Amino acid sequence: MADIRLEDVGHSYDGGRTWAVRPMTWTWRSGRAYALLGPSGCGKTTLLNIMSGLITPTTGRVWFGEREVTSVPTAGRNIAQVFQFPVLYEEMSVYDNLAFPLRNRRYPKDEVDRRVRAVSRMLGLDAHLGRRSRRLDPGRQQIVSLGRGLVRSDVAAVLLDEPLTVVDPAIRWTLRSTLKEIHRDTGHTLVYVTHDQTEALTFADEVVVLKDGAIVQAGEPAELFLSPAHEFVGHFIGSPGMNTLPGEVADGLVRVGGQVVGRADEPLPAGPVRVGVRPEFARLGDGPGSPGLPAEVTAVDRMGAYDLVHVRAGGHPLVARAEAGSPYEPGAAEFVRFTGGRVFLFRDEVRCGQVVPLNGRAG
Ligand SMILES: Nc1ncnc2c1ncn2[C@@H]1O[C@H](COP(=O)(O)OP(=O)(O)OP(=O)(O)O)[C@@H](O)[C@H]1O
Ligand SMILES: [Mg+2]
Repeated sequence: MADIRLEDVGHSYDGGRTWAVRPMTWTWRSGRAYALLGPSGCGKTTLLNIMSGLITPTTGRVWFGEREVTSVPTAGRNIAQVFQFPVLYEEMSVYDNLAFPLRNRRYPKDEVDRRVRAVSRMLGLDAHLGRRSRRLDPGRQQIVSLGRGLVRSDVAAVLLDEPLTVVDPAIRWTLRSTLKEIHRDTGHTLVYVTHDQTEALTFADEVVVLKDGAIVQAGEPAELFLSPAHEFVGHFIGSPGMNTLPGEVADGLVRVGGQVVGRADEPLPAGPVRVGVRPEFARLGDGPGSPGLPAEVTAVDRMGAYDLVHVRAGGHPLVARAEAGSPYEPGAAEFVRFTGGRVFLFRDEVRCGQVVPLNGRAG
């Protein structure tokens, strides 16, 4: 297996007027499990189809290791692709469907049997192996499709495009861990497309966030959560997502609603910024010296495991997370303290700095 490298790869469906995928350079490293995460229409499927060869990109080159495959058709790429809906030979048995990609590649008979049974066991298909595929419900058919994508050991990559959409939510969880297990077992390069952050964060070694056809950040789940490089990542990941407050920078000081919040950790030209802080790092209570703002509580959501306290701070709405059963009530005046050194500044949606306490280092 080899890395899959996209070199200035972009795609336009309308002769260059708009870009479904903006020209990008990016490497999918061999053996890693990636989630490709982004909202509807951001270019996830287009990007996947460029890798599998269903689409020849408008610009750029695609490499599998040292081999350029930009205009090599799917059949010559040795890629397994699983789509949103089942793609099966309906008249064939489940066993034969799973065996098909292997027989096609002339795997020895006992190897075929061994692999089919291994995948079947992991995906819970043993009881169905002898049944005709069209007799299964759509969710189960999709699991067979998934199995077909995972059954070969010699693929360059397995590309999965929202593969669990038609599967019963109750078994999605199990399937995700099964997928992880199969990945550990086979060491495939996996690219798993989803617009569901939970799915992406539980599944992947690395999450690649796509917006408007461009990668805005890629990293381990914790990195995206703790250190968003783009406002969109702050909003899209986390529930609720990151708060962003309109602010100003002047002489190194950061203000929101005229109040000083802290200072910028590096020199920034004076002017408007957006101040981003996740609810998890916004705490009510006294915090001399720490960045923060006076706030008034407007509402409290008691979530069971924790409380979400809605406040107005510097004239703007903000959500802070508190312990379950917190004493805050609407109308109370509090100080909202920004903790953990995780208050970020954004300009044009891109992170340009961090807010630190007036005296000292990031608190
Ligand atoms: N065959 C096509 N012809 C013209 N435009 C297309 C075609 N396929 C996709 N597009 C456009 O390209 C952009 C990216 O689409 P794409 O299907 O790659 O997004 P996606 O992230 O997979 O979305 P979803 O989550 O809804 O599946 C969208 O604006 C879409 O309307
Ligand atoms: Mg899609």
